[in-house]
Amino acid sequence: MKILTSAAVVLAFAAPAFAEDPVTIDVARSDALGQYLTDAEGRAVYFFSTDTRATDDDAARISCTSAACRDAWPLVTTSGDPAAGDGVDAALLGTTEHADARVVTYKGLPLYHARDAGAGIPEGKRIAAFDGEFHLLAPAAGPHAGDIPAAETMFAGACAQCHGQAGQGVASFPAIAGKNAEYIATMLMRYRAGERVGPNSGLMIAMAAGLSDADIANLAAFVSRTFE
Ligand code: HEC
Repeated sequence: MKILTSAAVVLAFAAPAFAEDPVTIDVARSDALGQYLTDAEGRAVYFFSTDTRATDDDAARISCTSAACRDAWPLVTTSGDPAAGDGVDAALLGTTEHADARVVTYKGLPLYHARDAGAGIPEGKRIAAFDGEFHLLAPAAGPHAGDIPAAETMFAGACAQCHGQAGQGVASFPAIAGKNAEYIATMLMRYRAGERVGPNSGLMIAMAAGLSDADIANLAAFVSRTFE
């Protein structure tokens, strides 16, 4: 009996996060946040900056694996193919296998919920936690729809001297290989806005000042797709 009881408790914890199955991904909007993806109950879904995207060949690498992270940020799992609500491009939805579960992905990125959040509007676009950042996702064609050849030329001319030809970093300049496109685009937009996020942001603020939205989208697509 004891065993049954504890199994029931686990189920009770897991169930509210994935009330609908198969999952539908919808769009919500707020003045402060613009459009962002939610589940069918209006709860925001997030991607985690330190995950990698699923590709045709590989499952996503999910980095929120500690018990504390999994408890606070449950993955959005589904038994069937996820459905696209109004304003969501069904072609960008998918699933990736993780620990015997099917995790819903958007542009290959595994989706999470904030366990403690209801259907209210999130406080910001990103939440720093567990050595990374959980980001809302915008439904519009984003950084993956980039002009790769243009970005390759731009990267070689303007970025490689510090970040390396393969994004591996040079001397004390950081590696940017292995980061997903949303993360790179978000960082470039923060620098362009003049935000200081690290000790050497001054260099990047100067670099990003001249980038257009299209440049950022292209660079993010190029870096995330090309560099492992
Ligand atoms: C003069 C050297 C230099 C150049 C050129 C440069 N960067 Fe950087 N980049 C840096 C430094 C230093 C940081 C860390 C800044 C900080 O402390 O916030 C950084 C940070 C970044 C980050 C965030 C990394 C992370 O893990 O958060 C991204 C993304 C990035 N750069 C992309 C680019 C792109 C794209 C270009 C070309 C348009 C570029 N950088 C050009 C030096 C440079």
